[in-house]
Amino acid sequence: MKVIMVMVSSLNGKITRGNDPYIYTWTSPEDKKLFFSHIERNNLMVMGRKTYEAAHKLITHTPEKRRIILTKEPRKYAPEEMPGMLEFTDESPRRLTSRMKKKGYQQMLLVGGSVVNSLFLRDNLVDEIHLTIEPYVFGTGTSIVATGSITTRLILTSVKKLNKKGTLHLIYTVEK
Ligand SMILES: NC(=O)c1ccc[n+]([C@@H]2O[C@H](COP(=O)([O-])OP(=O)(O)OC[C@H]3O[C@@H](n4cnc5c(N)ncnc54)[C@H](OP(=O)(O)O)[C@@H]3O)[C@@H](O)[C@H]2O)c1
Repeated sequence: MKVIMVMVSSLNGKITRGNDPYIYTWTSPEDKKLFFSHIERNNLMVMGRKTYEAAHKLITHTPEKRRIILTKEPRKYAPEEMPGMLEFTDESPRRLTSRMKKKGYQQMLLVGGSVVNSLFLRDNLVDEIHLTIEPYVFGTGTSIVATGSITTRLILTSVKKLNKKGTLHLIYTVEK
């Protein structure tokens, strides 16, 4: 199973501007396009419950796309479940990844947020990081990873400038 983490951040690694959970007020149309092209090309997406809460109004559920939401209280969200399309789980990232591999999935898109990114990085499950850096510095906000003892070694494999104002798109491979 290849796990690709996809994020957009400020120059100083913030994935939200302060307490505002909505990212499209500061991210570029170029990044938005790129993100939706990832969604087009993938059929398994994993995210934290807080990310789901922030993004769910923008999500269109279709039978070929499976979205799995990590929460410590999956039973609370059981009424929202749509089997094969929208599922809530408290499985560990390792267990979830291995279960999805057994179901035949070869690739998983990990779309945040910081807490869930940390869980996957801590267990060394991430294979690639696709990071868009928007030309902003935010004094406060959520970081790409939550605090914790994580050291992930990366190799930069691609750099692209997406627009005139200097939005950068970086692809890193995780050194295993
Ligand atoms: N810029 C970007 O690219 C980007 C990408 C993604 C998200 N975001 C933003 O980031 C923010 C959310 O990030 P976040 O770090 O606060 O939250 P998050 O990682 O999206 O979700 C955290 C939640 O995950 C669940 N969780 C945590 N540990 C778990 C475990 N061991 N097992 C199962 N579930 C577990 C808990 O849900 P329960 O509380 O339900 O138990 C926890 O509250 C949002 O504002 C979102 O818009 C930005």
